Amino acid sequence: MRQVTVVGTGIIGASWTCLFLAHGFDVVATDIRDGAEHDLNTAIDRFWPTLPDTVLAKKQRGNLRFSTDLDEACAGSGFIQENAIERLDAKIELMRRIDAATSKETIIASSSSAISVTDMQSACAHPERVVLGHPFNPPHLVPLVELAGGKKTGQRALEQAEAFYASLGKTPVRLEKEIYGHIANRLQAAIFREAIHMLDHGIASAEDIDRAVTEGPGPRWALMGPFMTYRLAGGDKGMQGFWDMFAPMQEKLWADLGNPTPQKDLQDRVTAAVEDSYADKSISTVIRERDARLRKILAVKKSPVSD
Ligand SMILES: NC(=O)c1ccc[n+]([C@@H]2O[C@H](COP(=O)([O-])OP(=O)(O)OC[C@H]3O[C@@H](n4cnc5c(N)ncnc54)[C@H](O)[C@@H]3O)[C@@H](O)[C@H]2O)c1
Repeated sequence: MRQVTVVGTGIIGASWTCLFLAHGFDVVATDIRDGAEHDLNTAIDRFWPTLPDTVLAKKQRGNLRFSTDLDEACAGSGFIQENAIERLDAKIELMRRIDAATSKETIIASSSSAISVTDMQSACAHPERVVLGHPFNPPHLVPLVELAGGKKTGQRALEQAEAFYASLGKTPVRLEKEIYGHIANRLQAAIFREAIHMLDHGIASAEDIDRAVTEGPGPRWALMGPFMTYRLAGGDKGMQGFWDMFAPMQEKLWADLGNPTPQKDLQDRVTAAVEDSYADKSISTVIRERDARLRKILAVKKSPVSD
């Protein structure tokens, strides 16, 4: 397989395009938005220097072609990465058209953050090759890709998608069952909900709540998830040691966690507090600094441990 099609070239599609090109694949990109081709080229130029060193060292760059014609863009590709609008009816219709425009061997992966594969594949003549390939932003840097099948997805398509993503240096994680929001966004939502609860109750400022993550659990979370973290908290007795010591505290905390709903008045209060806290930091500057540091953190994670 030499050619990949990227459908929808916004934030996520542009980043995927950059990664595919850097691994030597030819990419046909398609979008319906005026100016999309120009924006895509600009985004790729911006992303390219932030690719992992290991990828840049390959000194590869496939050919990029842009087409506004979906059928033509899909023809001849072995893998389609769909990243268009996150709306159920639009996704179902787009998947139906991609399915009709491709050979039944072609894998069709969606970046959807929350729409189920079962829904997306519902109007396809060959639904067995439709999978979820949900990245974490920006996909050209962050390794995670969440893989899931719908009710009609075949194991072969999941295995092929997994192998393809792994060949790009991604870390695929398989969902055995579909669940709204997949895994990582559900975990993020749990933390975000509690952050908002504490902000809205005046416990601390937005900046300090952010700092309580970035200067505390955040750096450790780059190395280990919640289960390994708490296994270590249990000392020599591991996970059971954690329960022995902390089960009563966890029970009390779980019962005490906030449960706000994102209504307009709450949105307004949070927006005002966050924008006020970070008024001196432009979004483009923060993204540039984030990506420059993220690639260093990811490189360190791969380096051998020395005493
Ligand atoms: N933004 C994130 O952090 C993030 C992370 C992971 C996954 N996702 C998912 O990725 C997908 C894209 O999100 P995004 O943030 O890049 O959105 P975006 O709005 O930046 O980009 C979407 C692009 O799709 C194009 N589009 C819409 N309908 C189309 C069609 N019929 N054919 C071709 N192009 C079409 C739009 O013109 C736009 O350029 C969504 O499904 C979203 O849930 C987003």
